Order: sequence, then C-alpha cells, then structure tokens
Amino acid sequence: MIKFDVLTLFPNMFDGFLSESIIKRAIEDKKIKIDITNFRDYSELKNNQVDDTPYGGGEGMVLMCDPIVKAIEEKKKKNSKVILMSPQGTKYDQKKAIELSKESHLIIVCGHYEGFDERIKNFIDEEISIGDYVLTGGEIPSMVLVDSISRLVPGVITEGSFEKDSFMDDLLDYPTYTKPREYRGMKVPDVLLSGDHKKIDEWRKEKQKEVTKEKRPDIYKEKVIKEVGKYSLVDDKEEKSLISINIDDSYNFLPNNKIKKSDLASISKVMIVEPTFIDKIARQNVEKKIAILMKQANIVLNDETDDEGAMYVLGELQRMQELLLTQYAKYLGMEYVSLMQIKLEAIKNGINTKMMAKMNIQNFETKRGRGR
Ligand SMILES: C[S@@+](CC[C@H](N)C(=O)[O-])C[C@H]1O[C@@H](n2cnc3c(N)ncnc32)[C@H](O)[C@@H]1O
Repeated sequence: MIKFDVLTLFPNMFDGFLSESIIKRAIEDKKIKIDITNFRDYSELKNNQVDDTPYGGGEGMVLMCDPIVKAIEEKKKKNSKVILMSPQGTKYDQKKAIELSKESHLIIVCGHYEGFDERIKNFIDEEISIGDYVLTGGEIPSMVLVDSISRLVPGVITEGSFEKDSFMDDLLDYPTYTKPREYRGMKVPDVLLSGDHKKIDEWRKEKQKEVTKEKRPDIYKEKVIKEVGKYSLVDDKEEKSLISINIDDSYNFLPNNKIKKSDLASISKVMIVEPTFIDKIARQNVEKKIAILMKQANIVLNDETDDEGAMYVLGELQRMQELLLTQYAKYLGMEYVSLMQIKLEAIKNGINTKMMAKMNIQNFETKRGRGR
C-alpha cells in the first residue's frame, strides 16, 4: 500500500481521475490511498491568501511558502518523501516511477501561476518535471506521477503485465494485435497464431529490439547481463552466441571461447588466461587515444584561424588526463600514467603558447591601429 498526499489549490481537478477505471479500483481495493488537500486551508492570512506579487517586479503571482510548508509539516511522517512538481525538476521517466513505487508515502506539491517562492525548496526532497514544456499548474503532472506509480504497485494491474511495458529493461514494448485475424487486408503475424510460446517469446524480444532501435535509438544500448567480479558480460543484442566482456567499465574485448547466451546463467567466474593481456589492451587504448589527440593538435597548430578547434582539443586533452587518473592508473600504475600526463601536458602547452602568441599579436595590432 502506498499513500499519496497531493497538495493543490484546485482539488476539483482530481475528481474524474480518482473516480474512474484502474485508479478508482486500486483505491477501493486499498492498494493505494490518495488524499487531495487544498493548501489554501493552511493560510493564516486574510481571505486565505496563498500568493503575492514577486519581489523585484515581474509578471504573475508567486505562491508563498507558509501555507505549503504548514501543509507539508502536518502530512509528513518518518518515511515520507516530498516531491515538488516543477518544470525545472529532474525529468521523469519509468526508472523514476519504479523507484518511487517502492516508497510508502509521497507528498506531492502542485504549483500554479508563476510558481513558488524559491525558499520552498528547503522543505522538499525532490523536484520533478514531467517534460520540457510548461503547464498552467502541477495538477496534471501530479496525476502523471500518481498514475504511473500506482500501476506498479503489486495487485493494481494484472500481475506481470507491466514487466514488458515500454522502457522496462530499456526497451520499448513489442507490437500487439487482437481480433480479427485480418483487417482490411492486414494480417496478424503467423507466429502469434502458432501456439508455440517459445517462438512467440523470441519473436516479441526481437521485435522489442527492432522497434527500440528504430524509434528510440537514444535508449537502445548494450545490456550488461551478468556481473562476475569486476567483469561485466555484455549482450551486444545482435549476436546469438558471442558476448563481449567489459573490465571495470574501462575496456571491452571478445572472449576467445565462444559462449552461448544460454550458458551465461551458469557462469560464476571469469578467468583471464594471460593477465598481461589487460595491460596490453589498456596501453594500446591509451596510446591510440593520445595519437588521435596529437593529430588533432597538429591540425589546430597549423591553422591560424581555428580557435574553436584549439579550445576543443584543449578540452579533450584535459579529459584524457582525467581518464588516465580515474580509470587507467589502477591497471597501468602511476609511473606509466605520469609519463603519459607529461606528453599530454606538452601538447597542451604547445596549443596554449600558440593561442597566447596570437592574442599578443592581436593586442599589438589593435594598439598600433589606435596610435595611427
Ligand atoms: C506556469 S508553471 C510555472 C513555471 C515557472 N514560471 C517556470 O518557468 O519554471 C506553474 C506550475 O505548474 C507546474 N508545472 C508546469 N509545468 C510543469 C512540468 N513540465 N512538470 C512539472 N510541473 C510543471 C509546476 O508546479 C509549476 O510551479
């Protein structure tokens, strides 16, 4: 059972939401509890005032701290989490919904008008946005939260039906069909009528990958399917039998022996037969990256006009220096890393000297121009 306390100035907006369909049933079945509270009731000012004009001037009205803070304080218990709906918050997604569905009490504060007095943020645990657009109030965003969290509460929807939803497992949902078998010449895929559930599951998994790759390449990523010590066994999603192995998120390589995905469940140990192998790949990686940076540095050093390029290469050199310390030092030792740092520093100095010289010439020419 999860309890939601929604603080709003417009409680009537929730009437339809609470009295229809799955949410209504979940409340009746006591799987969730939702209380809607008008925080105007907590105002101690004349006419229950809750907002005022912004200090410093500007359009619109700003919600005052006091009524909201008093409402929060009254509702708050030991395990409560207070969420502020705001377009400036962290963008909401299914992972967040799953995380919040494990809480026992959520207090959700809905803004309105121009927003809140900034000091309200000292009384909340998290600021959440439902997307990069601005609505008139936090009521619809709060319903988005309550709805998406409620359906994850055990027993609210049919057991197992959200596990394959879009975004679970970083994949979109597979295509679904219902009667009739043929509609205007379009047929339901044969496999779904075959009754072979193993084949259906395989087809659906493949479709999930296909659909995600096509519609949301941004969320389609490699999936670590098993962690063994510091090694992660990675499903590259394309191959049926080969996987790659990531070491501490730093390098990856293909194992020599062919491993079937179905064997992965039984792997409990990863052995690197040639331990110096890790050093070798790591050194190769570092040297390849530095060679690329040197090439880029050469290009900007030979181009008088490319200041943007020079700044970019300086940034990349800095990043490489950080990477050496945070990721490679533990394998390659500080002696090797320091040597590489000296190389990188020398390239940085070259670019910096060139930029300084260019600035000096420009200053000199500006002064000479003024002197004429
Ligand atoms: C008109 S908005 C205020 C916008 C504010 N002036 C700004 O630009 O950040 C009024 C209220 O609606 C809610 N709201 C609007 N858009 C939202 C979004 N994308 N996600 C969550 N809440 C939102 C917030 O509670 C906000 O305080």
